[in-house]
Amino acid sequence: MKSFLTINDCTTDQLNELLTISHDLKKLYKNGGRDLCLAGKVLAMLFEKTSLRTRVSFQVAMYDLGGMAMYMKPEDIGVIGQREPARDMARVFARYVDGIMARTFSHETLIELDRWAHVPVINALSDWSHPCQAMADMMTIQEHLGRLEGLKLAYVGDGNNVARSLAFACARFKMTYAIASPAGYELDAETIDAANRIWPGCAEQTHDPVAAVKGADVIYTDTWVSMGQEAEKEKRVRDFAGFAVDENLMRNAPNAKVMHCLPAYRGYEISDGVAESPNSVIFDQAENRLHFQRGLLKKLLCRR
Ligand code: CP
Ligand code: NVA
Repeated sequence: MKSFLTINDCTTDQLNELLTISHDLKKLYKNGGRDLCLAGKVLAMLFEKTSLRTRVSFQVAMYDLGGMAMYMKPEDIGVIGQREPARDMARVFARYVDGIMARTFSHETLIELDRWAHVPVINALSDWSHPCQAMADMMTIQEHLGRLEGLKLAYVGDGNNVARSLAFACARFKMTYAIASPAGYELDAETIDAANRIWPGCAEQTHDPVAAVKGADVIYTDTWVSMGQEAEKEKRVRDFAGFAVDENLMRNAPNAKVMHCLPAYRGYEISDGVAESPNSVIFDQAENRLHFQRGLLKKLLCRR
C-alpha cells in the first residue's frame, strides 16, 4: 500500500488494519500518550478547493506524530497542471517531502501525482471520491454500533464523491448500502456494480428516500451542491425537493444514527432539528477525521 486514493483499491484486510491503527492511536492520544513516529517528516498538502476538517485534521495529525505539514492553499496552486504538468509537480514535491496529500477537482490529477511521485499520495477529496471521510465514518459507526458487518447504511441525496466512497466502504466491510437520489443525480451504475461485485447484494439504488431508509442503521446525507457546482445551485435545490433528511423521513427509521460529512446546509439536505437530534453523530464523525488521518499517516509515512 504505497498511497491512498480510493477505498476500492484496498483490500478489506488493509482497511481493517488502518481502522485498528486509528482506534489504537485515538486511545493512546486520549490517554495523554504520544507516538512521534513521523519526527522529521513533512507532508505537502495541496488544495485546489477550500477545506476546514481535512486541512486542519491532517495538519494536527502530522504535528501530533512529530512531523509537520505544509498547506498550499487554492490561491497558491490554482488547478494542478495549469502552471506546470502534474507529473513535474509530483517529481519536484517528492524530492522535498515525505508525502503528498491533495484535494483536487479531477481524480485523474491524483492518479497522475501518484504515478510520478515516489512518495505516498493521499486523496483529500476529488470530484470522484473522498476515501478519508468514508473511513472516519466507518470508525464512527464501529464506535456507536459496535460493528460494521451486516449493518445497513442508507444514503439520501446526491450520488457524489462521498456517496461513492461510502458505497465502496460498505462493500469492503460487508454492509448493505441503499442510495436514494432524484432522477439525474444517481450514483453511476459502475460504482453500484463494483460494490455488488465486491460484496454480492451490497448496493441498491432507488428514487424513493422512504424505501432507502427502511431498516437502516445509519442514514447519511451530504450537500446537494458540491464544491465546483455552485452555478447549478438553484436548479439543484429545485431538483432535490423531497430528498431532505428531516423529521418526516426519520419517522421511517427512528433509531437510525444520522451522519453528514459536513459542511451541512441546514434546511436543504438536512433539517436543523435532525442535525442537532440525539440520533446525530456528525461531530463524532468530524472528530474521527483526525484519528483516522493519524492512523493513515502512520501506516503510509512511518515505514519510509
Ligand atoms: N468533510 C470534509 O471533508 O470537510 P472539509 O471540506 O471542511 O475538509
Ligand atoms: N460532496 C462535497 C463534500 C465536501 C466535504 C463536495 O465535494 O463539496
